[in-house]
Amino acid sequence: MTVEDNLHQRLERLRQQIREHNYRYYVLNAPLISDAEYDALMRELRAIEAAHPEWVTPDSPSQRVGAPPADGFAKVRHPAPILSLANAFSAADVRAWYARLLKLEPRVAGAGFVVEPKIDGLTVVLHYRSGLLVQGATRGDGEVGEDITANIRTIRAVPLKIPLAQSAGAGMTPRPPAYLVVRGEAFMFVRDFAALNEQLRQAGERTYLNPRNTAAGSLRQLDPGVTASRPLTVLTYQIVHAEGGDIPDTQWETLNYLRALGFPVAALARRYDTLEDALAYAQTWAEKRHELPYEIDGIVIKLDDLRLSAALGFVGRDPRGAIALKFPSQEVTTTLTDIRVNVGRTGVLTPYAVLEPVEIGGVRVERATLHNFDYIAEKDIRIGDRVLVKRAGEVIPYVIGPVTEARRGAERPFIPPQTCPSCGQPVEHFAGEVAWYCVNAACPAQRVRRLEHFVSRGAMDIRGLGRRIVEQLVEAGLVEDVADLYTLKKEDLLALEGFAEKKADNLLAAIAASRARPLARLLNGLGIRGVGEVLAAELARRYPSLDALMAAPQEALEALEGVGPNIAAAIVDWFSRPLNRRLLDKLKAAGVWPQEAASRPAAAGRPLEGLTFVITGVLPGMSRAEAKAFIQQHGGRVTSSVSRRTDYLLAGENPGSKLDKARALGVPVIGAAELRRLAAGG
Ligand code: IVH
Repeated sequence: MTVEDNLHQRLERLRQQIREHNYRYYVLNAPLISDAEYDALMRELRAIEAAHPEWVTPDSPSQRVGAPPADGFAKVRHPAPILSLANAFSAADVRAWYARLLKLEPRVAGAGFVVEPKIDGLTVVLHYRSGLLVQGATRGDGEVGEDITANIRTIRAVPLKIPLAQSAGAGMTPRPPAYLVVRGEAFMFVRDFAALNEQLRQAGERTYLNPRNTAAGSLRQLDPGVTASRPLTVLTYQIVHAEGGDIPDTQWETLNYLRALGFPVAALARRYDTLEDALAYAQTWAEKRHELPYEIDGIVIKLDDLRLSAALGFVGRDPRGAIALKFPSQEVTTTLTDIRVNVGRTGVLTPYAVLEPVEIGGVRVERATLHNFDYIAEKDIRIGDRVLVKRAGEVIPYVIGPVTEARRGAERPFIPPQTCPSCGQPVEHFAGEVAWYCVNAACPAQRVRRLEHFVSRGAMDIRGLGRRIVEQLVEAGLVEDVADLYTLKKEDLLALEGFAEKKADNLLAAIAASRARPLARLLNGLGIRGVGEVLAAELARRYPSLDALMAAPQEALEALEGVGPNIAAAIVDWFSRPLNRRLLDKLKAAGVWPQEAASRPAAAGRPLEGLTFVITGVLPGMSRAEAKAFIQQHGGRVTSSVSRRTDYLLAGENPGSKLDKARALGVPVIGAAELRRLAAGG
């Protein structure tokens, strides 16, 4: 075989590999290799095709972007191709890009640059006609995407109508073209992703791998109701198409223009006159990427002059006028030395990997989550395997999968335990859930987790009570439930290893001080399924004490912001259980029974009694005067400006600055439907 034959074989093999990885990544949302490894395959393919243009075929993975739309969504032809970006892996690559541009077009010398975060999410294409959102689509293959309008509409960051505010700085608000198509990136904040996964884990459901996968899975739900329950968000960065009106001709003005219209735009974006300044700024983010609330896999550097950029044309799917500077990969391979099982506070068993320590992005990693037992089986992860591990933002690292090529035969499959690793009781499985549970309420591991949650920062915030001490207390039989903390005696503590006078006094003082924590924190600390920080605050706002909440009927709970029938039922169920009742009695006896001064109980027949509302925007099917009369008839008060004293902001379309203020103050925002429910269910 000639050298050429060999090369051609390699080309075919690369194409096939990339096709398979594309399928796993875009269709199954279950990648087997890292982005960095994928990029390397793609680079090699491109290099061969560049050397042999006669070998390029239309079906080569280099000739298209992403995967075709899946069945179930209607197809949408984009008004202009949704392009991709060429990658650079170093400042030198970026300088080389610039040098190429200068040769092609000397005018580039005078052009400025816009630097933006490369958000690790999914492209969405938003169509506005006469200022109204009429369609939302995925990128698909870049020519034809999927119609996900119903799902897009559920994303709060996406304006349904533009411009957002006419009032604020009247002359400043631009008038959008009759038809405007905007491109953005849909994604999830790392914090929201972690909270969602924790919620899914506690509920025994399948957890997601990373924020990007979660966003992808959430956006492509056939039921928009599911999408709506996911904390998706969007940042916009491009105008794809416009008719019947002028649009800016620089990237920097485009970002400002989009922002002025009410679109979310990355606050991180900057404009620089020189490439070196742009690179210096990009570099700062390479170092601080983990400080961002969302994941970025690089920085995009764009020529500011969009006409110049368009004149430069494309290479394949990549516009010449922009380049992505990719960050070094956050993935490494290491050896998985053991698989162990953690017991959560609701009894869910979660397997995790013990790793030969490795450094990922400057952090030493020796543990990584394995999600659930099905995941280990599906990926065929074995003890002794070389595994690919990824660290993403603040989230705990996870095992992507085994490197099967590296197997030597000594690797052992993992057998899920039949009994709880902490208490030895048989584990159970419920139909429809992926999780296995330890259902023994007296299981020491569960006790420790429940206590840890109770004393954590967002709950009772008892400083100095870390995991070690909690374990000691449980092991010594001093504490069975959270209420036992309040009856601990100094002698009890002094009998424990590592405790002297001062440490015991400090801990007892910290425990005593926690009696003064507001109701919301206690509620969060109790660990009721579905009741996290946000919902606990909402419940405390509506109910002045645990006595009142305990007496609340399920329908009244369902009427609250952020509570569906499932969570309402879980709350009622929690309060009805004898064990929990006993716990509450103990807490009350121990003086842990906060009363919320700010809450005002609703009087019978006047469910909105004592509540103050502010109305903003255009309400569907209700004039402002009607809404006001409705609130007053039910006992509520309507004022004109939002303050800390406002209980609810009733917001319709085009809500304006009152909405921003309400959000800033943490005032719950409701719509007309919720108002009716509040008035009916109180
Ligand atoms: S510009 C011609 N800007 O990265 C415009 N893309 O690898 C090309 N992305 O498919 C895209 N943040 O989904 C651009 N600030 C940003 C971006 C961004 C994320 C994504 C986008 C694109 C991919 C290219």
